[in-house]
Amino acid sequence: MTSDPKNEQSKCPMHSPSVYSANDLTYNDYLKVPELISLQQPQSEPAHHDEMLFIIIHQAYELWFKLILHEIESALECMSAAEPLKARHFIHRCVEVMRLLVQQIHILETMHPADFLEFRSRLAPASGFQSIQFREIEFMVGVKDESYLSFFKNRPDLQAKLKARLDGPDLRSAFYDMLMKLGFSIPKDAATKERAGDVETQEQILLALLPVYKNPSSNLPLYLLTESLVELDEYLGLWREHHVRVVERVIGYKRGTGGSSGVEYLRSTTSKKSFPLLWEVRTRLV
Ligand code: HEM
Repeated sequence: MTSDPKNEQSKCPMHSPSVYSANDLTYNDYLKVPELISLQQPQSEPAHHDEMLFIIIHQAYELWFKLILHEIESALECMSAAEPLKARHFIHRCVEVMRLLVQQIHILETMHPADFLEFRSRLAPASGFQSIQFREIEFMVGVKDESYLSFFKNRPDLQAKLKARLDGPDLRSAFYDMLMKLGFSIPKDAATKERAGDVETQEQILLALLPVYKNPSSNLPLYLLTESLVELDEYLGLWREHHVRVVERVIGYKRGTGGSSGVEYLRSTTSKKSFPLLWEVRTRLV
């Protein structure tokens, strides 16, 4: 007996639009899809084909940056409650997002350098320098460089937001505070002293961490958190390295639209570290 394809189709739940009633929440309303897909507005005229890619990739990054900030906020709360495993849950999610973001940058290499030049001048002086969320992430992981506030001088609202991140909690200081709460011998204001280059403080932190690294099972929750923090740092660094490679491939050694030297400036940022002592501790292991 052969089956009737029409009957087969009607049994399939995918062909039952009647389950929805008129007032039900819809996918498009919940996710604001019409609004979202109306936000890509090219500057080139007529719109260059590749500008759509350029806009969408940046917007996708900004959405993921928003999630990373959201996760770091929760991680900070857990660290302040001295709950390393709970904090690790949120940091681990940031790592997985960063893993995706490192891959994603390479989509831009499908754009011919000559095609980019056809609309690049329309974008100046807009630049990644003005990504407030990227800078908020840097500040929240503990890489705090006040000079970047100047990129927002024409937007006092954004500058104030970033200043609040500069003055607010960050993962590095929250981590040291948590160690203190867990009974480790860590000086007060350890992050501030460490940033100022206080060698004694750095040595004390390393001494406190060494036993955990020598024997991870002696404090597994803490060890798992520290390794997730290092992994987050590693992926932030990898993003910087992949970004600069892509920039070199697309624009070579041209200056950035934001006024920097371009590749040279970006290379200088690849050595930034959020948790230098968590890297250093493995050098000290014997
Ligand atoms: C063809 C693609 C791209 C080119 C040619 C490019 C080029 C540059 C250049 C030259 C800079 C240095 C600042 C300046 O002088 O403007 C920069 C910074 C930056 N770009 Fe890109 N970029 C590209 C794609 C992206 C994408 C997809 C993102 C995703 C968000 C991004 C995010 C950033 C950020 C956050 C900075 C600041 C980095 C820092 O100061 O450490 N860029 N970019």
